[in-house]
Amino acid sequence: MTNSFHVSRRTVLLSGAAAGLALGLPRGAFAAGAELRDLEARPGTAALWEEGGPQADIWGYEGRVPGPVLRMRQGETLGIRFRNGLDQPSTIHWHGIRIDNAYDGVAGLTQPPVAPGESFDYLVNAPDAGTYWYHPHNRSWDQMARGLYGVLIVEEPGVRAYDRDVILTFDDWRLDEERQIDTASLGAMHDWAHAGRLGNVLTTNGEAYAKFPARPGERLRLRVLNTANSRVMTFRFAGLAPRLVALDGQPVAPEPLAEEAVRLAPAQRADLIVDLPETPATYTVEEASGQPFAACEFVVSGAPVTRASPLPEDIALPANPLPKALDMQDALAQDLLMEGGAMGRMREAVLKGETRDIRALVQEGKVWAFNGIAGSHMDPAMFTVARGRTVRMPIVNDTRWPHGIHVHGHHFKIVSRNGTPVAREEWRDTVLTDPGERVEIAFVADNPGKWMIHCHMLEHQAAGMMAWFEVT
Ligand code: C2O
Ligand code: CU
Repeated sequence: MTNSFHVSRRTVLLSGAAAGLALGLPRGAFAAGAELRDLEARPGTAALWEEGGPQADIWGYEGRVPGPVLRMRQGETLGIRFRNGLDQPSTIHWHGIRIDNAYDGVAGLTQPPVAPGESFDYLVNAPDAGTYWYHPHNRSWDQMARGLYGVLIVEEPGVRAYDRDVILTFDDWRLDEERQIDTASLGAMHDWAHAGRLGNVLTTNGEAYAKFPARPGERLRLRVLNTANSRVMTFRFAGLAPRLVALDGQPVAPEPLAEEAVRLAPAQRADLIVDLPETPATYTVEEASGQPFAACEFVVSGAPVTRASPLPEDIALPANPLPKALDMQDALAQDLLMEGGAMGRMREAVLKGETRDIRALVQEGKVWAFNGIAGSHMDPAMFTVARGRTVRMPIVNDTRWPHGIHVHGHHFKIVSRNGTPVAREEWRDTVLTDPGERVEIAFVADNPGKWMIHCHMLEHQAAGMMAWFEVT
């Protein structure tokens, strides 16, 4: 599939005022009764190495990577019948959606895993507009490394302050010499104890070097996602002067991106507004976390954009219905201490209720811990909190590696970093913590149920960086 096809197809879908959903669910279908769209996880192929190049075997939703773009309107419910066409159990988690707990998709915690050949019906209710995504929550380190994920867009009401949105899903892949996904190294303990599984090829929307056509003078909303298993990435939009309008789906006061770059941990998203120049030009987007290299490009050409009516001047996105007040005085304080990994200080941790030394832990593939516990779904809850109470969580990264901590079912506010209050109103579902860093977050536990909190470096998650809490 060429990139221009992606873009032109999406343009067609968006140009009809009623066309909110790439899968074609009629709007308001739930008013009349539940209608479910099929979404199947199954094997497929993709040219990950180069356009028109060798086809790699992947697992994808509808056999594609990324899976279909799901679009819905804020406040609507999207019905999905997930079919498992894989040869191992799976589920779908709707990352960042403040969903009903029963549909959160966590195998072993909110639902049983969906066996091969079986299906599960999800009702995705979306209180918040923004850029979200979906992926399995069973053996995520394996299934996501093979391509299982897709983008979920919840549209804001009202008039858009941009001409068109462009999704930029960045993923890194580890390919072998046959340009196939290197499955032999899946589960390699060296990766698990270090930075996680890092790839050797970067794709944008499943393509090795995507080219995005655009018109002079167009205003684009870029929906940027890091869907890598473990790589923290920095995307530089040199010459495009992007303005940040949302993080992890939640609006922020618009501001220019420092150095035209945004750093994203796995699972994080950023929405950017870009005003293209009036003259044709090509702009390269770089991945600049290490030695910078070209990731994809925007090709601005053709006749300047024309509009029936001018775009609104204010690019700020409308607020989402997040809890208004954090009650820091009466908050439940819950520390989160991250330990373990290569070159770390951890000598022992509790695994399945018993203290084990580091050698025994390595043997079990558990080399990370939260609060001294190498976690699994089998553990008791990390904490229980009455619905409506504020949770204050000082997070300490006492390891030599960055970690992206994700909380399910809620968005949290970043309160401080290394003791310094964070000035920006910043609500996120995933926070990046660098080695040695202390980050305090807080949220109102207003969504009843059992919710995961884990590192979104998927190998770290599998190797012990996971826990859950209950809102009663
Ligand atoms: Cu995106 Cu628990 O995950
Ligand atoms: Cu981690």
